[in-house]
Amino acid sequence: MLSLFKKKKTEQPLVTTIQVDMHSHLLPAIDDGSKSMEQSVALVKTFVEMGYKKLITTPHIMSDFYKNTPEIIYDKLDKLNDIIKSMQLDIELTAAAEYYLDEGFVNKIEKKEALLTFDENKKYLLFETSYMNASPYFDSVVFSLQSQGYQPVLAHPERYTYLFDSFEKLKKWYDKGVLFQLNVNSLSGYYSASSKSVAEKLIDNKMVNFVGSDCHGERHLNAMKETIGTTYYKKALKLDLLNHTL
Ligand SMILES: [Fe+2]
Repeated sequence: MLSLFKKKKTEQPLVTTIQVDMHSHLLPAIDDGSKSMEQSVALVKTFVEMGYKKLITTPHIMSDFYKNTPEIIYDKLDKLNDIIKSMQLDIELTAAAEYYLDEGFVNKIEKKEALLTFDENKKYLLFETSYMNASPYFDSVVFSLQSQGYQPVLAHPERYTYLFDSFEKLKKWYDKGVLFQLNVNSLSGYYSASSKSVAEKLIDNKMVNFVGSDCHGERHLNAMKETIGTTYYKKALKLDLLNHTL
């Protein structure tokens, strides 16, 4: 009986502060993210329900597996945007890329090819390395990118196994001007206990510039709904994050 008189819980928005996501794989069938246009639309709808206002999606560009080009990416983006607009979804959807640090990427930089960035003026460039092995190109790539006016943003620094015990290396890169993007789901231990611990250390040391979903499918958004209740997520929101400047 008592429950009848209990105050009805008011629905809280699932995400209140971060309204801009800058790392995801939402374009259909061009990497290991969304597999179809239908799935892409469903994912965007979930982001809208979670309170997001802008999504900068970042398909993989990897010489061996995902030979995406700006043309391929923008073509898929236009098609997805046509549907989103026809559905009158309240969200802005743009695209950049997540570059994998391989020889193909090094060649593009050497040839001064125009690279995809997620802010035209600030030239933020999202890149990742192998999860297992340190890249011999890391320092020279960062130097070349910076010389060409780009601001390199390392995707999920907390996820690289070769760095789990090398926090000093991360600190060195951060001090050299490499910006860091943390995956929200790292904070619940979704990937691994080690990633969670590095993620927390990055937050404690104020070494996080962006947070991102790195959404490849609904599973990541479902997990995020849990993660955003964690103490460290709340702590991350208090940092000087740049998401809102995009
Ligand atoms: Fe990613």
